[in-house]
Amino acid sequence: MGTHSAVVALLLIPLLTSWVLFTAAERPKRGGEEWRHKERREERYEEEEKEEEKYDSHRSRGVFLLEDESVIAKTDAGTVKVVEGDNYEHTRHMHVGFINMKPNTLFLPQYMNAHLILFVKSGGVKVGFIFNDEYVEKNLTVGDIYRIEAGSTFFMANTDMDRELRIICSFDPAESFGSVPIQSFFIGGGSYPKSILRGFDKKTLSTTLNVTVGELASITESQRDGPIIYMPMGKEGSNPEKLNEGLKNVWTWRKILNTLLDGKEVEIVGENFLRSSTENKAPDAYNIYDSRPDFNNDYGSTFTVDGNHYKPLDTSGIGIYHVNLTAGSMLAPHLNPMATEYGIVLAGSGTLQVVFPNGSSAMNVEVNEGDTFYIPRYFPFCQIASKTKPMEFFGFTTSAHRNNPQFLVGAESILNSMMGPELAVAFSTDQEKLKLLFSSQSESIILPSQERTKEQDEPEEI
Ligand SMILES: *[C@@H]1O[C@H](CO)[C@@H](O)[C@H](O)[C@H]1NC(C)=O
Ligand SMILES: *[C@@H]1O[C@H](CO)[C@@H](O)[C@H](O)[C@H]1NC(C)=O
Ligand SMILES: *[C@@H]1O[C@H](CO)[C@@H](O)[C@H](O)[C@H]1NC(C)=O
Ligand SMILES: *[C@@H]1O[C@H](CO)[C@@H](O)[C@H](O)[C@H]1NC(C)=O
Repeated sequence: MGTHSAVVALLLIPLLTSWVLFTAAERPKRGGEEWRHKERREERYEEEEKEEEKYDSHRSRGVFLLEDESVIAKTDAGTVKVVEGDNYEHTRHMHVGFINMKPNTLFLPQYMNAHLILFVKSGGVKVGFIFNDEYVEKNLTVGDIYRIEAGSTFFMANTDMDRELRIICSFDPAESFGSVPIQSFFIGGGSYPKSILRGFDKKTLSTTLNVTVGELASITESQRDGPIIYMPMGKEGSNPEKLNEGLKNVWTWRKILNTLLDGKEVEIVGENFLRSSTENKAPDAYNIYDSRPDFNNDYGSTFTVDGNHYKPLDTSGIGIYHVNLTAGSMLAPHLNPMATEYGIVLAGSGTLQVVFPNGSSAMNVEVNEGDTFYIPRYFPFCQIASKTKPMEFFGFTTSAHRNNPQFLVGAESILNSMMGPELAVAFSTDQEKLKLLFSSQSESIILPSQERTKEQDEPEEI
């Protein structure tokens, strides 16, 4: 007796609703008239269903899946895609970006109208950027998190000769410009992408830089390979001429940067290195895999990173989480009382269920590697890994403070903590039955999902 999973209870309401619809449609009809009516109605119903399918197929697989993807940069050397965050709750929303760069490539120096939080999914990257008026370089490896502020000029280089670089990032727009989700302002560039330096009067700029107009043109007009390019010595093997050209450009670039930075805080070391002369106070990257999981059991683990682990998250008001589920396991139904959550499936596949406030199912869809979803604050949801493979997902929450997700199911769920006569009355049952129902799950947070056997599933009254 009494070993029904509480998940069943959660699913009961949508099931009941569809049962009522089903029996209404199946009610036996008497006489030809009614039969024809029924047939016509069914045709209409089928048409409507087809219409809905058509509508769905080019709309969305689920309300909270983010599928509105735009490619904001694409060259032979790499791509940048942005998945636009939805604005269901009319509060703050951000976008999720996917940056892929081939071996030995450079994402040209630029700044953006959005704060960036980078997560290195695979490969490694050298990020060079301006931090408090100083030039800083960081090498990031798999699992590293790093924040770059809106308006801060940065470049990214995949210096590895073999490995492709994959970065997942959040774009948190500081200001928005018209309809574009994010806006890049390229410093490095030429005719494509166009450097913002080109918008200035040539004479003025060359005087400012103390170079000739010709020297300036050699820098600001030659780039035409796009925002992500192969480094000299790239694909075609080493090419001394191109390399020299490249180094000369690098040198001039550093001179330009130097000038932009007022020349005081930086020194040129050797021929083509620029280093900050004062102690570099830019925070180090934080690696989510180096930290201890907040929770783990036989069925998986969860990590969270907040402002206590990595200070810059405080400033941006964004938290990061990572969840690993073994095959068939489930992150128990829960809700976020403090934050909206954006998630990306990193590996494997599974199911994502989200419930509307009125108790109807908002979404119950299969998700695969690369799928992006978001869960509005307060909405109950759960993730279940497919039976064949583990599922790993990761994401951003709109709060850098401890989020304290509230679990609805599991040994330490809010329903178990709240167990008492009032809860029994609320469910219109007696306390003993309710206790049995909610205490049969001995695990918390990440739950196994063994199939219930036939005899266990024999009907019994609740
Ligand atoms: C980054 O890595 C490169 C090559 O591995 C190394 O030369 C450089 O010193 C590193 N920079 C930092 C800041 O660690
Ligand atoms: C400009 O460049 C010339 C030649 O390189 C140098 O002699 C001069 O001092 C520079 N002027 C300034 C203001 O840096
Ligand atoms: C997640 O699980 C996979 C497969 O079980 C494992 O290879 C990986 O190291 C785990 N990641 C973390 C961060 O625990
Ligand atoms: C529940 O709320 C959602 C979202 O507001 C709505 O689309 C749906 O029709 C509602 N369902 C019921 C049964 O009221």
